[in-house]
Amino acid sequence: MFLAKWVGIFVSDPVRDRTGESKHNGSMKNVLVVGGGGREHALAWKLSQSNRIGNLFVSPGNAGTAHLAQNIPISSTDIPALIKFAKQNAIDLTVVGPDNSLAAGIVDSFQAHGLKIFGPTKKAAEIEWSKVFAKKLMKKYNIPTAKYASFSSYEPARRYISTTSFPTVIKVDGLALGKGVFICESPKEAKKALTAIMRGKDFGSSGTKIVIEEYLEGIEVSAHAICDGSNFLLFPLAQDHKRIGEGNTGPNTGGMGTICPVPGPVREISGIIRATLEALQKEGRYFSGCLFPGIMHTSKGPKVLEYNARFGDPETQVYMRLLKNDLLEVLEAATEKRLGNVKLEWQTGAAACIVLASLGYPGKYKQGFEIGGIEERSGNETVIFHAGTKLDGDRVLTAGGRVLNVTATGANLGETLELGYKAAGRVSFEGKVFRKDIGFQFGS
Ligand code: AMP
Ligand code: GLY
Repeated sequence: MFLAKWVGIFVSDPVRDRTGESKHNGSMKNVLVVGGGGREHALAWKLSQSNRIGNLFVSPGNAGTAHLAQNIPISSTDIPALIKFAKQNAIDLTVVGPDNSLAAGIVDSFQAHGLKIFGPTKKAAEIEWSKVFAKKLMKKYNIPTAKYASFSSYEPARRYISTTSFPTVIKVDGLALGKGVFICESPKEAKKALTAIMRGKDFGSSGTKIVIEEYLEGIEVSAHAICDGSNFLLFPLAQDHKRIGEGNTGPNTGGMGTICPVPGPVREISGIIRATLEALQKEGRYFSGCLFPGIMHTSKGPKVLEYNARFGDPETQVYMRLLKNDLLEVLEAATEKRLGNVKLEWQTGAAACIVLASLGYPGKYKQGFEIGGIEERSGNETVIFHAGTKLDGDRVLTAGGRVLNVTATGANLGETLELGYKAAGRVSFEGKVFRKDIGFQFGS
C-alpha cells in the first residue's frame, strides 16, 4: 500500500519506514489526521517522526502533507466518509485539527463506531462553538474573564450599547473562522457590527446570539493543555499575532505568526485550566483533547478571552518544533486516560512561526500563484509548513489566505526570528504578505 512520496522540501527527515509497505502489527500505528492547514501539516510532520508510525493519512491535507503522508480527498466535516475510511484502512488513532469537525460531533461518531480519536466530544467542545455557553460556564464557576451580557435579538443589544463604555467587544456566539469578534471604539461602530450580525445575518446561524463584553487590556498569550478528562499537561505559553497589520493593527485574522515560549503567569493559567476541566466535569462534559484558552494577561491577572477545544493554528507549528516527546505516545495516552504517567519535554531555546499570506487576506484575495523558494534545504533550524497550498503536477500553488508557515528554532528569540525572516524572504509568490514584527512585544 502507498506510503509517503518524499522530496526534499522538508529540512527535517523523520525516522520511519518509507518502504511503501502497509504496516499493521501490534506496535505500529496507522494514523489519520483530519484537516488541511498548517496545523495539520505540523501535526503530521511530528507524528511522522514517531518510531511507531505505520501508515499516515491526512484528510484532505495540502501540498505539504502530500510529501510525508497520503492525502485523502475527504472533507474534514464528512464524518460518515471519514469513519468508512478509518475502518477500511485499520486506523488506530484519528487526530482532529479543525473546530468545525469537533462541533459537527466527529468524536462522538467515531467513538460510537469503536474508533479511537483524539479530541473532545461535541458537548465538551461547546466551550468553543458557543461563546454564550463558555461565558455562562466561566461566570458559574468563577473563572476570570471579561464582564459580559448576551443577547438573542437586536433591540435589547442596541439599548445595551447605549449604556456601555468604549471600546467594547461584540462577539458572535458560534464559529466564525476567527472573524466574529468586533472591537468597537464608539457606539456608531458597535451599532454597525450589531446590524451586520443580527439584521444582515453576515454570520448566518453563528450570529443568532451574541456576547457583548468588556474590553480587556494587557498582553495576549495562548495556553495549550493536553487533557484526558481529568489529568492535563500544560504546554509552555505561546503568543499569536491575530491582527493583519504590524503593531497589532487592522482586522483580525486566523493568526499571522507565533512565538514560543513567552513569559506569563503560568501557575494562575494552570489554575484556570484545572478549574475549567472541573467545571466541565461537573456539567457532565469530560474534556479529552487539547484545551486552548486565549488569555489576556491584565494588570489584574490572567483572564480568559475565549476557549478553543483544539490545537491552535499557528501555535501548533511552534509547539511541534519544540516538543521532544513522541507525539503519537502523548496523544494515545490522552485517549486512554494515561496522561498521569506522561511528562512533556521541550527543547530549550525558542521557536517562531511567520505566516506568509495572500495579498487581501483576511478579506478577498487571489490564488493559484506558483510558489518558489521552498525547495532548498536550509539546515535543521527552519521548517516550512504548508497551509493554503495545492499541488499542480510538480508545481506548488497558493490555495488559501494563509499560504505557508515558515518556522525556525534557535537559542533565543532574536536569533530564531532572524533565521525565520531569512527563510521567509527566500519564498516567492505573487501577492506574498507577512508581518515583519512577530515577537515585537517581547523585545526581539
Ligand atoms: P476571540 O476569538 O474571542 O479570541 O477574539 C479574537 C481576538 O479579539 C482575541 O485574540 C483578542 O485579540 C481580541 N479580543 C477578544 N476579546 C477581547 C476583549 N474582551 N478585550 C480585548 N480584546 C479582545
Ligand atoms: N491561533 C488562534 C487559533 O487557532 O484560534
